[in-house]
Amino acid sequence: MTRRGLKQLAGRHLPFLAGGAGVGGIAAAVPWPWTVTAGVACAVAFTRGPRAERIRERFAALSGPATAAAAKTRARTTTRRAEQSIPERWPSLMAELGFADAAAGAPTLDAVTVTPDVIDAQVTMPVKWGPGTWRKYAAAVSGALGGQEVDVQVEPVDPRDPGAPRRLGLTIDKRGLPDRYAVDSPPAFLVDEQRGDGVPVGVGVAGRPVVWWIDERPHLAIAADTRTGKSAFLRFLISTVAAHGCTVDAISGKTATAEWHNLDQLGGVTYHRNATAEFVAIREATELMQARYAEFDRSGTWHGVTPHFVIIDELAQWIGASKAKGRMEAAQAAFNLVSQGGEARIHFVGATHRWNLDQLGNGQASTAREQMGGIQIGRASRDALRMVLGDDMDPDVDADIPDLKGRAIVGSLGRGLGTQVCQLAYLDRVGAS
Ligand SMILES: Nc1ncnc2c1ncn2[C@@H]1O[C@H](COP(=O)(O)OP(=O)(O)O)[C@@H](O)[C@H]1O
Ligand SMILES: [Mg+2]
Repeated sequence: MTRRGLKQLAGRHLPFLAGGAGVGGIAAAVPWPWTVTAGVACAVAFTRGPRAERIRERFAALSGPATAAAAKTRARTTTRRAEQSIPERWPSLMAELGFADAAAGAPTLDAVTVTPDVIDAQVTMPVKWGPGTWRKYAAAVSGALGGQEVDVQVEPVDPRDPGAPRRLGLTIDKRGLPDRYAVDSPPAFLVDEQRGDGVPVGVGVAGRPVVWWIDERPHLAIAADTRTGKSAFLRFLISTVAAHGCTVDAISGKTATAEWHNLDQLGGVTYHRNATAEFVAIREATELMQARYAEFDRSGTWHGVTPHFVIIDELAQWIGASKAKGRMEAAQAAFNLVSQGGEARIHFVGATHRWNLDQLGNGQASTAREQMGGIQIGRASRDALRMVLGDDMDPDVDADIPDLKGRAIVGSLGRGLGTQVCQLAYLDRVGAS
């Protein structure tokens, strides 16, 4: 592994923290049931598009007016019948959806599995289909089959042949994401030979764990309005990494973060409650990073380096509201960890109302993009989402997520992992640790 040069963050102010609401994120789905290492993984959840709506209307029209209850029963029966015969119905479904144009090439269904909760379909796509087309296709098919969320994975039919058609794996989740995802103890890390350590952060389509791969994306930008579950998620995150033996400096821009009151009881966690302690913590994290670099220079290996997390809640408030001198310098030092700390396993997590990573000057923006995953908790405008997700954001992602605590759009939580909707985990009992 090569050592990144130690760069300095320039600028007297921190323009990437914008006022207002919203952020974006980067997320990862555990590659099941498809292997995605060679392919592209992305997820969409926009089954409410105009086309899906039209299809739904058409289905409704088929069942006639009658009473609401009768219509419901008929819809259920129709859906059941539809599911039973999905392979037979596929050509006509394609025609209905407008994807059966032979000139443009028609997708062919290779395999389909239907359970009461999930439809898994594998489809070979026409060679000329790009991401825009397959995402629209996924959404339309999902909408027509009554899906709540759809997860899309793409890989070449023959990985050795770059010109080969690609196979589209669709997981259509009929239940949708759970409204809440409470856990009563911190889950174990996932370990992947390629990706390294993975911190489970929530649940995605078809009940798949959503994982933040900290060795691929060492840092995390979290954006959320007040009362969306930001601090509760951070408490979950802190407890989880601490349970895995990592060390954590927890800092909050709020004077009293009740969610965190008992974090100190966890081994390895220090919840700093005053500016002096916070500054010392950030300085020591920087020194730890430098010591690790020095050790790496000496031994040529990062072996045995335990992840250390610097986690700042209410970041903008923390920087702005304090009368304490030196807060800006401390913030700069904290952000230096983003460009420099990853390889040394010093991880920065910042939560605030709104991020704008594009505003990081002097080459910091692209570094931040390479290094940071992103999580937008709660709804945000497309612009707010893009500010934190940048080019990693799936342009078709449905930003119109339900207004639920812990419901999030996450992005790039690992290399090559796209944007998806996720229900973030939280620890149910305040006393849980
Ligand atoms: N994922 C979640 N599911 C259900 N309730 C939650 C979730 N996250 C937080 N809450 C509850 O919502 C309230 C606000 O959460 P909090 O984390 O303090 O929000 P924020 O830090 O965004 O202002 C708390 O009472 C918390 O227990
Ligand atoms: Mg909070």
